[in-house]
Amino acid sequence: MKFTVAIDGPAAAGKGTISRAIARHFGFAHLDTGLLYRAVGMKGGDPVEAARSLTDADLRRDDLRSLEAGQAASRVATIPEVRAALADFQRRFARREGGAVLDGRDIGTVICPQAEVKLYVTASPEMRARRRWLELGGEAAPRSLDQVLAEVRERDARDMNRAEAPLRPAPDAVILDTSDLSVDQAVARAIEIVQSRLNAQ
Ligand code: DC
Repeated sequence: MKFTVAIDGPAAAGKGTISRAIARHFGFAHLDTGLLYRAVGMKGGDPVEAARSLTDADLRRDDLRSLEAGQAASRVATIPEVRAALADFQRRFARREGGAVLDGRDIGTVICPQAEVKLYVTASPEMRARRRWLELGGEAAPRSLDQVLAEVRERDARDMNRAEAPLRPAPDAVILDTSDLSVDQAVARAIEIVQSRLNAQ
């Protein structure tokens, strides 16, 4: 069976958690496409070359989850040749046997416009900044909540305003705003949406 779940949305809205939960629940493979851009951003040198020669080892670096890697990813992600170099890999992954979940910024709009399910997971910038700040250690975090909020807004602006594949919901995406939902509620809602599409297959 080929069945693609495309999950897009801004940083720290809950895409990762929801994608992993869907993959586990339905037994689908999961690809966090942000990691590809993070690995390119952290590899250094010419980003287009980096994207064309990305290896498993590049994807296993343990600094890929840092704020620095997120900012670097968001910058290299504006380069059309970088996006093109990563597209085939993502499309092959999406159409593998057994179902696949991909999360990112342009999965439903550019990478897999034919995806069986498209979710746009979002939350207010304040809520996303608070979650990121708590993940970084809250009061013990190396950054203040205000600094994290400024970074969230900066990344949103870059991801939403770039010319190439800007972040926006696909016209047929289901919008899931997690601002007022617990993790469990958001996951349950997402699973319900995927299940209803599977039933309609
Ligand atoms: O989801 P993330 O925070 O790991 O993504 C890091 C950056 O990579 C994000 O700011 C924009 C870019 N990105 C993208 O342009 N397209 C994707 N499909 C995934 C990520």
